[in-house]
Amino acid sequence: MTRLCLALAATLSLLPLGLQAATSDEIAKRLEPVGKVCIQGQECAGVAVSAAAGGAGAARPAQDIIAKHCTACHSVGLMDAPKIGDSAAWKARADKEGGLDGLLAKAITGINTMPPKGTCGDCSDEELKAAIQKMSGL
Ligand code: HEC
Repeated sequence: MTRLCLALAATLSLLPLGLQAATSDEIAKRLEPVGKVCIQGQECAGVAVSAAAGGAGAARPAQDIIAKHCTACHSVGLMDAPKIGDSAAWKARADKEGGLDGLLAKAITGINTMPPKGTCGDCSDEELKAAIQKMSGL
């Protein structure tokens, strides 16, 4: 009986060590690449994990939408596009359109040389809005 208890105690004392090693080293290292692969829309084993962790329909991060669809014009202000981070330019537009939702409506339909949805055809309204918020700082 005593021997069994000792063996059990030894096993249990090793368990936390094993878990810690897995947490700090392997899991942390693996989570990042998995997240990247999933965000890029490729098939990966982490999809279920990120969907469970992210919840709410798993909207793609604003910076990814921007990098993929908006920076082309909005980073340099091509064709007079309001520049990313130029909050004054964005605020002037927001005031004119009736706030963030007004800007969103224009982004969805397109405005002059700005194409509908800023070329992100599969973007949800929420994703577009998040991208606008991030670019404008509004
Ligand atoms: C092909 C270039 C181009 C791309 C790509 C683009 N935009 Fe634009 N965007 C413009 C231009 C040009 C304007 C200014 C249009 C004008 O007022 O004449 C503009 C203006 C806007 C405005 C302000 C609309 C208003 O009512 O004043 C919003 C919001 C916007 N873009 C969001 C986005 C988002 C979000 C993306 C990425 C999903 C995006 N744009 C991608 C060119 C682009």
